[in-house]
Order: sequence, then structure tokens, then C-alpha cells
Amino acid sequence: MSFIGKLLKHGKNGTLFKTLRKRLFNAANHKNDAPIGDTYYGSRAEDYLAKRHQQEYWHLEQKQIVKMLSQLPKGSSVLDVPFGTGRFVKDYLQNEFNVTGLDASEDMLKVAKKELGELFNKINVSVGDATQLPYPDQSFDYVVCIRFLTHIVNYEQARAVLREFRRITRNQLILQLRMRLDKCPPTEFPKPDQQIGDRLNQNQLKDLLGEFGFEVKHIEVLEERDTYCRAIFLCGLAST
Ligand SMILES: C[S@@+](CC[C@H](N)C(=O)[O-])C[C@H]1O[C@@H](n2cnc3c(N)ncnc32)[C@H](O)[C@@H]1O
Repeated sequence: MSFIGKLLKHGKNGTLFKTLRKRLFNAANHKNDAPIGDTYYGSRAEDYLAKRHQQEYWHLEQKQIVKMLSQLPKGSSVLDVPFGTGRFVKDYLQNEFNVTGLDASEDMLKVAKKELGELFNKINVSVGDATQLPYPDQSFDYVVCIRFLTHIVNYEQARAVLREFRRITRNQLILQLRMRLDKCPPTEFPKPDQQIGDRLNQNQLKDLLGEFGFEVKHIEVLEERDTYCRAIFLCGLAST
């Protein structure tokens, strides 16, 4: 959508000032600790699903994760962060999971509410920051984290998120990550304020997860790009 188109849409929806305020707040705080990927507001949130539904990869990823979920025990407690538009909720509930979701964007959660209708009342959802999860230690059997760690937050924040995941998980972590292809030359390690992006290969990602007490049990490669592939990592808790 063009800049003018976006302005008109904000004008129509009355979201212009809220979005500007949020952008200014983020710009002012991004230097050190504000979550850098916290930008899913206004039309970006509203258009999220329509755009993703057109992408073949979205459906491939959905199918694979739904398959993994179907193998988890019924009655499990699951935290989905970032929750986004709640794309797995129907499947969670079909598997009789106890579902909690957290996302930084109230607007994404509004879209989730609209999309899910009645189902939204069967889950617990809140606005929050993945680097500081508002749950006691070992609250959930499983944590699901899709499209986040390698390209939404920076490296320092990704580490904080992993630390939080380890603290609140009792069993396994299902993660979607970008993984550098071994056939590509190594690149510079991410600096704290940079996103991981395509910089880390399989061993480096395993080391990173290992640092926070996760052991990679399985990697499902879904799609290969020039320098990286998108993959789902199934991680258990490393024995101490
Ligand atoms: C690419 S979307 C992924 C959403 C969902 N997991 C999916 O697969 O569609 C990234 C999400 O991260 C959320 N987000 C960004 N920074 C965050 C943070 N620090 N804590 C929690 N959520 C955050 C955004 O609001 C957005 O909903």
C-alpha cells in the first residue's frame, strides 16, 4: 500500500495518532532495550493475515507445525509467543490444550479476536514483552515461537527471550528459525543490537540454544533461500 493509501486508511480507522505515538515511542527507545520488532500496529496488523495467506510458505509452515502439535499429549499447557493472529488456536483446541498467548501488539491481538470469534474466549491472551514473560517458573509444558527470534528481535533480546523460555518451560520448545546454509561462507556473528537474520548456521544455533539449556531433538527444514533455510526446531530440555 502506498504512503498516501496508508495515511487515508489510518484517517478512516482513526488509528493515525496511536500509530504515530507508538512509532515515536519505539524510535526513542530502540537504542538499548525496547523490542525492535514491536511494529505490528494499524494496517500492518490488519493486513497481516491477508498477505500471509497468499504465500505458499505460510501454508507449508502451518501444515508442519500442526502435524507436530498433533503429536503432543492431549491436555498439555502451551504458551504461544508471539501469538500474532492466533494462527494455531483451532489446532491447539482440537488437541485439547490449555492455551496461553502473549504478543507485544494489542492490534495483532484484536485481529486474533476478530478471526477466532468464540474460540478467543477459550484461551488466555495478554499483551506483553517476550523478553520479560509474566509467568512463574515452569508454567507451561510447551512453548511455541514462530517467526520471531531470528528476524524480529535483535540478538541481545533473542538471548533474553531464550532465557525466559527456559525458565517457564517444563518440557519442549517449538521454534521457527532462519538457519544459514553450510554451503555459504560464514558471516560475522550478530552484534547485540543486530538481528540474527541468516548469520548463524546449524551448529551455531544449536550452541546458542544449548547455552540456555535446550537440546535440539529434531530440525525440519521447510524452505531454502539463497543464504539460509527456514526451519522448525524441536528442542527438549538439556539434562544438567
Ligand atoms: C512475524 S509476527 C509472528 C506472529 C506469529 N507467531 C505468526 O507466526 O504469525 C511477529 C510478532 O511479534 C510480535 N512482537 C514483536 N516484538 C515482540 C516482543 N518483544 N514480545 C512479544 N511480541 C513481540 C509482533 O507484535 C508480531 O505479532
